Amino acid sequence: MPDHNPAPHPTKHGAPSLSPPDAGAVLDLFRRVRRETEELAAPLSPEDQTVQSMPDASPAKWHRAHTTWFFETFVLAPHLAGYAIFDPAFGYVFNSYYEAVGPRHPRPSRGMLSRPGVAEVAAYRAHVDAAMERLLAAGDEAVAALAVMGLHHEQQHQELLLTDIKHAFSLSPLHPAYLPPPAPPSASATPMGWWLAEGGIHTVGYEPSGAALDFAFDNEGPRHEVLLRDHALADRPVSNGEFRAFMEDGGYRKPALWLSEGWALAQSAGWEAPGYWQRLDGEWHVMTLHGLMPVHDDEPVAHVSFYEAAAYAEWAGKRLPTEFEWEVAAQRHAGTGQPAGGARPHPRPLLTGIRQDVWEWTASPYSPYPGYRPQPGALGEYNGKFMINQMVLRGRSCATAEGHDRPSYRNFFPPQARWQFSGFRLAEDA
Ligand SMILES: [Fe+2]
Repeated sequence: MPDHNPAPHPTKHGAPSLSPPDAGAVLDLFRRVRRETEELAAPLSPEDQTVQSMPDASPAKWHRAHTTWFFETFVLAPHLAGYAIFDPAFGYVFNSYYEAVGPRHPRPSRGMLSRPGVAEVAAYRAHVDAAMERLLAAGDEAVAALAVMGLHHEQQHQELLLTDIKHAFSLSPLHPAYLPPPAPPSASATPMGWWLAEGGIHTVGYEPSGAALDFAFDNEGPRHEVLLRDHALADRPVSNGEFRAFMEDGGYRKPALWLSEGWALAQSAGWEAPGYWQRLDGEWHVMTLHGLMPVHDDEPVAHVSFYEAAAYAEWAGKRLPTEFEWEVAAQRHAGTGQPAGGARPHPRPLLTGIRQDVWEWTASPYSPYPGYRPQPGALGEYNGKFMINQMVLRGRSCATAEGHDRPSYRNFFPPQARWQFSGFRLAEDA
């Protein structure tokens, strides 16, 4: 997710790896993804869409416009003869972090953009959509590959739209609900089991399937071999109930469990629970996109930093998995876990399996794979320049667009980040 991450904005674009697309399939995907963004923004008022609650988060209106700017800048301007830029001033306000494209509005000041308003942003989207329809109908392969990349970029921003408005709403004493609360969950988490994995040489990284519209970001390759030791990986992430046991055992008050940086941050920030948790009348509640709700023990713990995940693992006598242990498990246990169903505002109760409703912190720093080279040009800025001071998260979350996740997908955030749906699962050496 790009313009998303803290510091700069870690997004992940990269050289697309795309099978020969068919124009009709690309057009269908384009219409679906662009429509889904508008559907996600629909419950938000113009005021909701303008607020920026912290430098890491962006206004919903900005996400809608920035994803549009991406198509205008990288697809339409260079490839559609006679294309008329909607508003030349938008290049300054909706460029996220592309140095090669020019100067830009400061990220922390995106909430100052009362204009363009939501109606003008809608008109901008319609203008670009109409031009993209004309361009995609021509069936050019290079254009189709760029468009598919732009759609995966937009899906990353769809998730950010949800996590960013959740953060904004969490700061309101009115506890606004993005959507009405669902019926209380009836399922309960299955007990945590362990997948035993034999050590040896394993191959990781993106492998093209040959399917139409197959895609991966450049940071998922090159495919290469890694050496794993015998280990066991938990068959599901840690639950709220399990994390509460860590809290009740004084986990947030025992420096021996914590990495030094994490302990210092937990002290200075006053952390005593995951993000969005608050105690009301002696009971833990959590701010969600459905408003304030009681904490449900059978859901995966979410909105924890890498530091909290590492402290919990230390307390449990386990460790966090490496990203390669996770990926090899994902290859073996494909199809297990949560059923598909599209982005949703809140995690479901845990099920055994690899596919879950929270991103999973790993013990792996976000670094290039052997042989990785960013592609030349502005889009080479998508992933490579963020490969420092961030940790890899694997999997997906409840807010991830359908079809956006895959075993080789590498999300990344700084270790202190808590506003994404970030949880974790445990591992141990055999
Ligand atoms: Fe972006």
